[in-house]
Amino acid sequence: MPQEVRGVVAKSVGAPVSVETIVIPDPGPGEAVVAIQACGVCHTDLHYREGGINDEFPFLLGHEAAGLVESVGEGVTDVAPGDFVILNWRAVCGDCRSCRRGRPQYCFAAHNATQKMTLLDGTELSPALGIGAFAEKTLVASGQCTKVNPEAGAEAAGLLGCGVMAGIGAAINTGQVGRGDSVAVFGCGGVGNAALEGARVAGAHTIIAVDIDDKKLEWAKEFGATHTINSSQVDPVEAIRELTNGNGADVVIEAIGLPETYKQAFFARDLAGTVVLVGVPRPDMTVELPFIEVFGRGGALKSSWYGDCLPSRDFPMLIDLYLQGRLNLDGFVSETIALDQVEAAFHKMEAGEVLRSVVVL
Ligand code: APR
Ligand code: ZN
Ligand code: ZN
Repeated sequence: MPQEVRGVVAKSVGAPVSVETIVIPDPGPGEAVVAIQACGVCHTDLHYREGGINDEFPFLLGHEAAGLVESVGEGVTDVAPGDFVILNWRAVCGDCRSCRRGRPQYCFAAHNATQKMTLLDGTELSPALGIGAFAEKTLVASGQCTKVNPEAGAEAAGLLGCGVMAGIGAAINTGQVGRGDSVAVFGCGGVGNAALEGARVAGAHTIIAVDIDDKKLEWAKEFGATHTINSSQVDPVEAIRELTNGNGADVVIEAIGLPETYKQAFFARDLAGTVVLVGVPRPDMTVELPFIEVFGRGGALKSSWYGDCLPSRDFPMLIDLYLQGRLNLDGFVSETIALDQVEAAFHKMEAGEVLRSVVVL
C-alpha cells in the first residue's frame, strides 16, 4: 500500500520551500523504503530550490540522511527491514566500464529508485540527488543504503552521506594523505572542515586551515587544524610556505570552488605535491596557470567526486572511528531542527552562521 508522509518540497524557482503530503510507493525490485531519522541541510538543496541544478520542479529536497530500512522490494539482499543505514547518492552499478575495471568508487552509471514519489495529485517529484530525505520516509535504490553500526546517532551519521564524506574523502581517498604529511585546506565550511578532520585521522603532521572568516578559522581548530591563515589579511601562499620550511604543503585541498583559490592552492603545494579540488566550480569559470609550472612542479592535480568514496567501504569504517572517539562528527551539527524549519536553515547557511543544521524526525 502506498503511504502518505510529510516532506519538504521546492515547487518553483526561488520560492520558499513548504512541507507537503507526499506519496511513497511500496518498494519495487531493487528498491527500499527508509524511515528517515535525520537529514542535514546542504548547499546543494538550496541550489535545487534556486533552479541551479536543473528545472525538474517540484523537488523533494534533502540528501544527507540516516534512518531505518522499513521495507525492501524483490531481490534485495544487501539490506533488510530494521537495518540502520546511511543513504548515499552514488549507488554503484557493478557493470559499467569503471566498475568492471575494479574502480567502483568512480561508477559512471550510479542509479536511483525506478519508481517515482508523488504529490497527492499525482505530480511526480524529483528527489534531490536521487534521495529526497527531508521526509518522514523516502524511496531509494537499495544500493543507496549502507548499513552501519546503529550505536551511532542518526544526526552525526547522516552527515557522512554528502558534504562531510566529500571532505574526508578528499583528504584520505583522493589526496591519499599519509602519516607525517603537511596539508593545507582552502575554505573551512562543512566540506573544508571535514577535509581537515580527514587529514588528522590520516596522520598528517601539519594541518593548515585557510579562510577569509575568522569565525570559520576558530571552528577549524576543532577539526584538526594545527595552524590557521586568514587569507584576506596575508598572502596564503607565502604563509603556507613559511609553515612548511619554505616548501609548500604535500597535499593542498581546495574546498570552495573558485579559480582564485584554486590558483593559490596550486602555488601553495610542494614540488611533486598534490592539489585536490573538492569545491564545485560554476560552469562559466575558467582558470589560467603558467603552463611551465604545471609541468615543472610535477605531482598531481586531482578532482574529488563525493570524496571518491565507496560507501560500502568508507561509511562503516568512518562510523567505527567515530564510535571509537577518533573522528569528530558531532562538531558539524550546529543545530537540530524540525521539517518545517528548513527554509529558515537555508538563510542561516547563506549567512555562514552554521556548519550544518540537521532535521531530526
Ligand atoms: N578565500 C578563502 N576562503 C573563502 C573564500 C576565499 N576567496 N571565499 C569563501 N571562502 C570560505 C568561506 O568563508 C566559507 O567558510 O569558504 C568556505 C566555504 O564554505 P561553505 O560555503 O560552507 O561551503 P561547503 O558546504 O563547505 O562547500 C564548499 O565544496 O562540495 C563543494 O559545492 C560545495 O563548492 C562547495 C564547496
Ligand atoms: Zn558502475
Ligand atoms: Zn550535499
